[in-house]
Amino acid sequence: MKIFLDTANVSSIKTFVGMGILDGVTTNPTLMAKENREFSDLVNEILRVVPGPVNLEVVSQQAEGMISEGHELALLGPNVVVKCPMTAEGLKAVKKLHKDGIKTNMTLIFSANQALLAAKAGADYASPFIGRLDDAGHEGMKIIEEILQIFRNYEFDTQVLVASIRHPVHVVEAAKLGAHVATMPPDVLDKMVKHPLTDIGLRRFLDDWQNAGLKLPTGQLSPKTKTLMQRA
Ligand code: E4P
Repeated sequence: MKIFLDTANVSSIKTFVGMGILDGVTTNPTLMAKENREFSDLVNEILRVVPGPVNLEVVSQQAEGMISEGHELALLGPNVVVKCPMTAEGLKAVKKLHKDGIKTNMTLIFSANQALLAAKAGADYASPFIGRLDDAGHEGMKIIEEILQIFRNYEFDTQVLVASIRHPVHVVEAAKLGAHVATMPPDVLDKMVKHPLTDIGLRRFLDDWQNAGLKLPTGQLSPKTKTLMQRA
């Protein structure tokens, strides 16, 4: 499963790119607005840092506007994916952008039927918002299961991008179902990295090592590695 970060915060993006586990980024107008920066500067910096797809959302309501915004956004970099909302106009825009060879992500999907239409329009990604469904009293993950089954039945190439993830259990559930991508806020990805038992276990190993006065053989090591080990 590919892991995308759901943020426009460059420092968070850099942290996870540095760990080597980030496959891409999703943004939306709310996330962009939070950064309080000039749009082009911010996007260009994100595009430079991210080694995979960067999802940028259109803000027009009509297909014509979405299509021209999509073309502008796609010019910013080869890894741009244009996000269009799941509306009648959004479907028209995705169909045209797909025809024009531009990668698209149909966003704000809340039902299996909407995902089916996104796939038929030729979207590269369909983004069901599971956290918001949970908030509204539905079982968000249920539609992921349905969408994956429908896409398998008809061999759609559209990837299911599980969005609006709120906690690490959502990620495990999405992975168990075989979702193609999960996009999550930095705090969720951070929680996936950490486990208290790992910290306790590591502390104990290091204490035992030090108390026994053990040392790694340093004879073959380069001066640079020796300096690093001394610093640790
Ligand atoms: C995905 O592309 C969206 O930006 C995102 O997942 C929305 O999540 P939210 O419901 O936490 O705002």
